[in-house]
Amino acid sequence: MSRAGELFENGRIQDAVTAVRRLIAGSGKKYYVKTFGCQQNEADSERIAGMCEDMGYLPADSPDEASLIVVNTCAVREHAEKKAISVTGQYKHLKNADPGLVISMCGCMVSRASRAEQIKKSLPYVDFTFGTSDIHLFPVLLSDRLAGGKRRFELPPDNPPIVEGIPVRRESGFRAWLSIMYGCDNFCSYCIVPYVRGRERSRNPADVLREAEELIGAGYRDVTLLGQNVNSYGRNCPFGCDFPGLMRRIDAIDGDYLIRFMTSHPKDATRELADTIAGSRHIAHQYHLPAQSGSDSVLRSMNRGYTFDEYAEKAGYIRRVIPDVTLTSDIIVGFPGETEEDFEDTLRLLRTVRYDMVYSFIYSPRRGTPAAEDPAQVPDEVKGERMRRLLELQTGISSEINEKYYGKVLRVLIHGKSKNDPGMLETRTEGGKILLIPDDGTEAGEFVNARVTGTGAFLLYGERG
Ligand code: SAH
Ligand code: SF4
Ligand code: F3S
Repeated sequence: MSRAGELFENGRIQDAVTAVRRLIAGSGKKYYVKTFGCQQNEADSERIAGMCEDMGYLPADSPDEASLIVVNTCAVREHAEKKAISVTGQYKHLKNADPGLVISMCGCMVSRASRAEQIKKSLPYVDFTFGTSDIHLFPVLLSDRLAGGKRRFELPPDNPPIVEGIPVRRESGFRAWLSIMYGCDNFCSYCIVPYVRGRERSRNPADVLREAEELIGAGYRDVTLLGQNVNSYGRNCPFGCDFPGLMRRIDAIDGDYLIRFMTSHPKDATRELADTIAGSRHIAHQYHLPAQSGSDSVLRSMNRGYTFDEYAEKAGYIRRVIPDVTLTSDIIVGFPGETEEDFEDTLRLLRTVRYDMVYSFIYSPRRGTPAAEDPAQVPDEVKGERMRRLLELQTGISSEINEKYYGKVLRVLIHGKSKNDPGMLETRTEGGKILLIPDDGTEAGEFVNARVTGTGAFLLYGERG
């Protein structure tokens, strides 16, 4: 079988793995990975954990038990960066107590030269950093540092390879991330992701299918296909397989499982994709289609590539062919130049599409992106006030939609004991909604039927039915 890109099992990386294994053999040393950001980072952290265990480290329950700490950072908003720096700062005293402790940072924030430089200068207890596309080099950087090498701050190359075969330690035994592509070429004018995750590149469908078969064969029930823009999968690739084609090939695998995907871009959301979901056996009736704004002029300055009407038409088609779909969106409030009329267009979009749920974010200027240079920044009070209005409107819509589930019997996947509601089990509907049922001891990872007995804007309640 042909494979794209490099293999983790190549000489330099395996030499490093072996060197670390020899060094820590039988020592009982532990690792701890702290993750910020989105599902791509969660998936990357599972690979980092996989490599740590491959090198002989054991998992630690908390950072103070660890001899190796990795902080996987996010850069999408300022708050995420501040959080990563402050959490890493808290590990300083651990290093003072144990100078042998290795502290590393990776992910989107440290993939920018300016941030890597800042870490180098202001956090002297950080041993090395590496970028999102250099994850496979982690054993090499670790091994060099353990052998007394200098601190290193690796920046991602311009054309990173796809590396197959990196060991994975999955957090869950029934839910899994499956990366199908990396990077993003869309350059939405507010977004840092294309600068920190590099150019869009798709995995070979043969590799994706093999991983999907392994997961489903191992009993995974809920597999999410990951990428910044999954519906452009296969673009500029010689594989002759686009996203709907890939989904159909995965859907053909027999078993009791659901496939989800994150995230799709409206400009590439074709009718074929909606039809593929509608006609599938295993693709969950859930569609996250971030609109970001309802104003044509804001959408133009965001470089999104669609208008209100084009978006609403696509959303309407999705609801028509998949009537029980859970449709969700991301919205940015207070983009530079956003006027009251622009914002009202966004509220109108929410009323038109009637999303099940909206993830809303206050615009956060990211240095190096075009929108951050725009002189027409919206004042914080205006952003806050618009956010409140948006939440109020959407909470009402979400409540009304959820009320319609009252009395229905839904097939749900048990996720485990609820953290907030003692005595309840947290489950997910096929559409990805949280539904709580009384804890009758059913194991996580099982599908059961539940009848909805109560609804709210963000939650459903039910009982086995
Ligand atoms: N690739 C995905 C999203 C990645 S980032 C997509 O295109 O949908 C997740 C969300 O963060 C985005 O959808 C956007 O709503 C939000 N976001 C990105 N940059 C932001 C910024 N500078 N300020 C506020 N929110 C931002
Ligand atoms: Fe960012 Fe746009 Fe790419 Fe999403 S599609 S990651 S919002 S640049
Ligand atoms: Fe954050 Fe990077 Fe994801 S910037 S949102 S962790 S792609």
